[in-house]
Amino acid sequence: MQKLSSFRLPWPMNWTELFGREAPLIVEIGFGYGTFLLHLARENPDANVIGLEIANQCLEATEGKIKRSGLTNVHVIQSTAETALHHLFEPASIQQVHINFPDPWFKKRHSHRRLMQRDTLDAIVNRLQAGGLLYLATDIVEYAEMSAELLAETGGLTNRLETAWVNALPGRVVTKYEGRAQREGRICHYFAYERNATPVPDVPVIKELDMTHVVFHSPLSMDAMLERFEFQEHKLGDTVISFLQAYRGNRVLLFEVYIKEPTIDQHVAVILSYRDTPGEYTLKAGTLGYPRSTAGLHKAVGMLGDWLVGLDAGAAILHDKLKETS
Ligand SMILES: C[S@@+](CC[C@H](N)C(=O)[O-])C[C@H]1O[C@@H](n2cnc3c(N)ncnc32)[C@H](O)[C@@H]1O
Repeated sequence: MQKLSSFRLPWPMNWTELFGREAPLIVEIGFGYGTFLLHLARENPDANVIGLEIANQCLEATEGKIKRSGLTNVHVIQSTAETALHHLFEPASIQQVHINFPDPWFKKRHSHRRLMQRDTLDAIVNRLQAGGLLYLATDIVEYAEMSAELLAETGGLTNRLETAWVNALPGRVVTKYEGRAQREGRICHYFAYERNATPVPDVPVIKELDMTHVVFHSPLSMDAMLERFEFQEHKLGDTVISFLQAYRGNRVLLFEVYIKEPTIDQHVAVILSYRDTPGEYTLKAGTLGYPRSTAGLHKAVGMLGDWLVGLDAGAAILHDKLKETS
């Protein structure tokens, strides 16, 4: 069965259409094997419950559990939290966000990859509706301390507890990871925050751009271009674009491209094909890898076009469809 994935869903997503009804949204980030997610769905029959996860095994196991449970108010989405928050959810649209035991490998040097960081927390707060709730649990004391500081600095949130965190929440359903942490004697830290009325930074939904292409003429053949190809990596602000490989097809050149943007990573094919007029080429994203037309994809196609045209003084761009990007 085709999984629901942030790469395939509309940006923003129409949750009412997916669930077949309008209802408050409850989101769990990184649901693992789904115990807590199913509990949320059972306890909140009047809510639409959405689980976000990146690990295939977890997605499949939890999809199976949902099917067997007969619950219709819960769906799992293959997505990083970052992509879902920025691309799928509208501002002030979520009633509850639950994060249970994120980043078990937490080390200071991994700080750029951890879930609890300013940009992601700002996105969570922006997507919570007034009175919406954010729950976090962790068994790593350094992670708890770091999160306590970050949450306390977040104007749009009010602590629902009397202390920064508590070490027990009676009646709470225990997740798989939590059970192991408890058996191994690690102390858990639980946070509960509420979205207050303080205005928060604007975090716009990142929508898809029109598809991009570049048309150029060049005296060079595809074989000559392929011969000149070598790996390239470009850092453009917060986007990293890598041209990994080039392959020759029957009447095409295929470039394997990796695009790392702050909210989404894409591994796609950019295809060079002939136009009807000899010496003219079109460069555009192929369907391999299901590319989404982001600013990064536009940058990648534009840079690859510039590189191909730069290979010969007699080559020039005829026209393009590129978002102005710096
Ligand atoms: C330590 S496990 C905890 C799983 C579950 N919440 C539990 O308590 O048993 C962390 C989970 O978060 C998922 N994960 C990690 N980074 C993520 C991200 N950026 N977005 C969504 N899920 C993520 C992992 O695949 C993993 O299943």
